[in-house]
Amino acid sequence: MKNKETPQPAHAERATKPFRGEIQLPGDKSISHRSFILSALAVGTSRIHGLLEGDDVLATGRAMQAMGAQTTRLSDNTWEVTGRGVGGLISPDAPLDFGNSGTGIRLTLGAMTGCPVTARCIGDESLSRRPMGRVTDPLTQMGAMFEFHGAADGQLPLTLTSPQRALPIDYVLPVASAQVKSCILLAGLGAPGVTAVTEKQSTRDHTENMLALFGADISSIPDGKGIPDGKGTPEGKGLGKGRRIELTGETELKATTINVPGDPSSAAFPLVAGLLSDGAEIRLNNVMVNPYRSGLWDCLKEMGGKIEAVNAREAAGEQVVDYIVKGSDLVGIDVPPEKAPDMIDEFPILAMAAACARGTTHLHGLAELRVKESDRLAAIADGLKLCGVSVTEGEDDLVIEGCGGPVPGLMNNEPVTTHLDHRIAMSFLVLGLNAENRITIDDARMIATSFPNFFELMATLGAEFNTTHPGA
Ligand code: S3P
Repeated sequence: MKNKETPQPAHAERATKPFRGEIQLPGDKSISHRSFILSALAVGTSRIHGLLEGDDVLATGRAMQAMGAQTTRLSDNTWEVTGRGVGGLISPDAPLDFGNSGTGIRLTLGAMTGCPVTARCIGDESLSRRPMGRVTDPLTQMGAMFEFHGAADGQLPLTLTSPQRALPIDYVLPVASAQVKSCILLAGLGAPGVTAVTEKQSTRDHTENMLALFGADISSIPDGKGIPDGKGTPEGKGLGKGRRIELTGETELKATTINVPGDPSSAAFPLVAGLLSDGAEIRLNNVMVNPYRSGLWDCLKEMGGKIEAVNAREAAGEQVVDYIVKGSDLVGIDVPPEKAPDMIDEFPILAMAAACARGTTHLHGLAELRVKESDRLAAIADGLKLCGVSVTEGEDDLVIEGCGGPVPGLMNNEPVTTHLDHRIAMSFLVLGLNAENRITIDDARMIATSFPNFFELMATLGAEFNTTHPGA
């Protein structure tokens, strides 16, 4: 086993047999972060079942512990958290390390602003390049003070000094971002009166749903007529529609029990692997269906993907289903910009499906991909070119000429660069299962941030990767 500090290359080769079998998806990353944070702000002891024990979420758990909440691991994926109540977090003794996680740092900065806390926050190389101004600007309006110690203003490391009592604000989000929305709402918990956030395009609503579950005084009102989705159905599913969310602060949160549903963003990898495998039939159990995260499903269906959702049920206020996925001949499509917030994390794997589809796929509205764990737009384009796929990268769009079957794969020994980005790593490994030549990635370590048993579950379906990664 190699040292965790050293990059761990991995490679994938074309699968010889169709994938078969069934797997249980791990807990949702977004809901797992929120479970730790909201439990830490609640009065009493919450029980979390099915928590994703990925590096990102565990870093958030450690941050809550460092600020006075008591977090206890009872058994695999089951945790208990005794909270300190709204406004009750205390200053940590040492810097809080959020590793690779944008969600962890941004939501926690909000939670801290609603408590009288001073803390230094750090992250890895990737997180230290990402913009924090989108949350520190509104938090400054709420009374927080920030000192930046990084390469540029608005980047980690930073020191936050929270106000004694946060001020409520009425904020219109300049970017469609659930992280920014959630950050403000969490800060608003500690502010007197009503904190309001308006989003012009709705984003995942887990924070609102979970705040309601913990007994917060919160309401969400559809706002505006919405942006047409390009198909003449502005009303359908709320696509592109905005919302105004109002939260009354200084209301007690009560500890509760959370059953974390499976992560649709992780399900995306075996899902696409199954669709690209001739004659495959796989079952993916425990996949959350949230209307603001269903863009990939819609796109893959439109591309001709044979996917069926069965066994609908509920967990943590969300719908959960099982997917039955069959090998399919995919065709290229046009994805309009309004769709982007509903599938913001799924573009890397959608691009892999597009590379194997027949015809051209045009993805629009991708500006936000440039500030994810890596510049995902560039990482996808560079990686696909290296694998022999014809791609045109625009400022905020991507055109992919599908190969109508397996892609050529790597022509020499130069690996695909993953830039410390878990989703770029998993996407190119999945592409390698449908490539003439092997595809190597430079580093598989980051996969543990969101999908620690990726290698094990993919192997259950028959997709073996060759890797020295300790998790494999
Ligand atoms: C997340 C929101 C999204 C997403 C991230 C998780 C969340 O980020 O990319 O992986 O849990 O709120 P943005 O809000 O920046 O789009």
